[in-house]
Amino acid sequence: MNFNPGTVNEIAVFNGFDFSVDPGEFVSMVGSNGSGKTTLLNVICGSLSADRGKIFLNGTEITGMPEHRRAANIGRVFQNPAAGTCPNLTIMENLSLADNKGGAFGLRKGVNKKRTDYYRSRLQLLQLGLEDKLDISVGSLSGGQRQALALLIATMTPIDLLILDEHTAALDPRSSETVMELTLRVIEEKQLTALMVTHNLRFAVEYGNRLVMMHEGRSVIDTRRTGKDSCTIESLLKTFNEISIECGN
Ligand SMILES: Nc1ncnc2c1ncn2[C@@H]1O[C@H](COP(=O)(O)OP(=O)(O)OP(=O)(O)O)[C@@H](O)[C@H]1O
Ligand SMILES: [Mg+2]
Repeated sequence: MNFNPGTVNEIAVFNGFDFSVDPGEFVSMVGSNGSGKTTLLNVICGSLSADRGKIFLNGTEITGMPEHRRAANIGRVFQNPAAGTCPNLTIMENLSLADNKGGAFGLRKGVNKKRTDYYRSRLQLLQLGLEDKLDISVGSLSGGQRQALALLIATMTPIDLLILDEHTAALDPRSSETVMELTLRVIEEKQLTALMVTHNLRFAVEYGNRLVMMHEGRSVIDTRRTGKDSCTIESLLKTFNEISIECGN
């Protein structure tokens, strides 16, 4: 992936980088700023098109598929709590829109009692009391509440891959703990394949069944074959330090 090609600001992020995730894997990905994590997620989701290479989802090539079509099979939660939900719409309207992802525009159809009950039951999962607040606008929720809702929305319809880009980074310690526990619950309940980027080494160690550390557009740690058991916060920090020394930082 080349940014600003042909200029003095040209940056090549991935060169011959090959990465695949098996069905059912929950990958936690760490790595220094600028190591290419978000770029990788953007290329997978189609927010960026790579100038070389191919992307496959469930064995089907999606390299040329536009982002909105990939969204039918890929759920994404961003770092910014404002990004995954519409602030001017109510909780109900947000859920209804998500429910109709890839289909007809949700609001026009009206929401029947059965769907409302279903939304309530999903919201109950969050244990934030939102099931009684279906008609309040999402803009009035806290960051943590919005991220929890964004997670429900991203996983409302069946998806092949859940992408989480530092989705707890903007939250206070307690809310990030809650959202992380909820993330695990949703992933286990729906048996999702997930790729989570985080700077929280404890989350990376505790959650997921595979850990990857990125550095300069390549993986310097990948527990795919070895298993995650030997990975600790201390061992990750040690690798981080070795890398920074190599870079002269
Ligand atoms: N739109 C863009 N235009 C130019 N360069 C970009 C663009 N997006 C990313 N880059 C560059 O690509 C490299 C990788 O950036 P990326 O955002 O993927 O890093 P990251 O691993 O997500 O970092 P962080 O931990 O800070 O979020 C960086 O050198 C960055 O400056
Ligand atoms: Mg990033």
